Amino acid sequence: MHNITLIKGDGIGPEISSAVVDIIDSTKLKINWDECLAGLNAIEKFDCALPKETINSIEKNKVVLKAPVTTPIGKGFRSINVEIRKRFNLYANIRPSKNCPGIKTAFNNVDLVVIRENTEDIYAGIEHRIDDNTIHGIKLTTKEASLKIAKAAFEYALKNNRSEVCAVTKANISKLADGLFLDCYREVSKEYAAIKKREILVDNLCMQLVQNPSQFDVLVMPNLYGDIVSDLCAGLIGGLGVAKSANIGDNCAMFEAVHGSALDIANKGIANPTGLLSSAIMMLDYLGEGDCAKKIELALFEVLKEGKTLTPDLGGSSTTKEFRDEIIKKIAVV
Ligand code: NAI
Repeated sequence: MHNITLIKGDGIGPEISSAVVDIIDSTKLKINWDECLAGLNAIEKFDCALPKETINSIEKNKVVLKAPVTTPIGKGFRSINVEIRKRFNLYANIRPSKNCPGIKTAFNNVDLVVIRENTEDIYAGIEHRIDDNTIHGIKLTTKEASLKIAKAAFEYALKNNRSEVCAVTKANISKLADGLFLDCYREVSKEYAAIKKREILVDNLCMQLVQNPSQFDVLVMPNLYGDIVSDLCAGLIGGLGVAKSANIGDNCAMFEAVHGSALDIANKGIANPTGLLSSAIMMLDYLGEGDCAKKIELALFEVLKEGKTLTPDLGGSSTTKEFRDEIIKKIAVV
């Protein structure tokens, strides 16, 4: 029996997380879903965006499946995602982008992984008002976190038979902060003779990604570049609806889709659960349930390949529930 903290989030979160839980439960894998609140729902009930109950559950279970949570723009409470990543030191955000069967995109040979530092950079939220017209925002970069993320990237490459780890920075401009990040990458890279090294500036990376993405393998970068580049990479494989991610720490992990709460389509029953489902498949692998993960992935790929039951973001006209039911049907026969 696995105990997993489940955060259903808001916007499309409850719709897609219910679908994902139904799909996993259909495999008969024994999971105790410890449902907890965070974000807007938690504020309504506890007057706190990340209540003690949720923190205690994560501390106890050490594995979280999280649907998106809305973060107010320019005001209001701090991002729950950032809060959880920092509090539990989930320092490595792993975001693989690989073409899904059946989803037609501009390129059919994308297979890369963005490894994003998850605790620092401007996400540390250190901002000061100097006067009414001037804000001072700090890009925090430490040697400790930069060494850790570089090591995580090379270890990921080794374990997953990847041949290259490329450091992405803007060290020509951010000479101190990105310079330190790059120095740490160079230091760690010496321990991995079998893995190819490469360095690229983030602006050039973006141009190269939209022209020739298959040249890239594992990309390691600071937090903000990772946030932006991974959405770009999601676009290369069919959009935000299909992109997955894992936030990994030394003894705790949180799995979530790359996309947000998609308020424009919330409560319409048409959200695509593929991103969260694929993240949950990564979670099952992390839990040592590789067979179950494979079974669900095969069923998902089969449904995508058939192309008959797709949500509107993938060009179909099916609902979230119809898509879920089709995957459950396939699981029963694979
Ligand atoms: P978004 O990712 O929610 O939506 C961007 C576009 O992609 C929208 O047109 C949306 O309909 C579409 N989309 C996203 N996920 C989809 C899915 N599963 N199926 C079909 N279409 C999908 O980004 P946006 O609008 O910038 O952010 C909305 C809120 O989400 C903000 O409050 C933001 O802070 C929050 N957010 C939360 C995240 C999290 O909880 N991990 C991550 C990113 C944003």
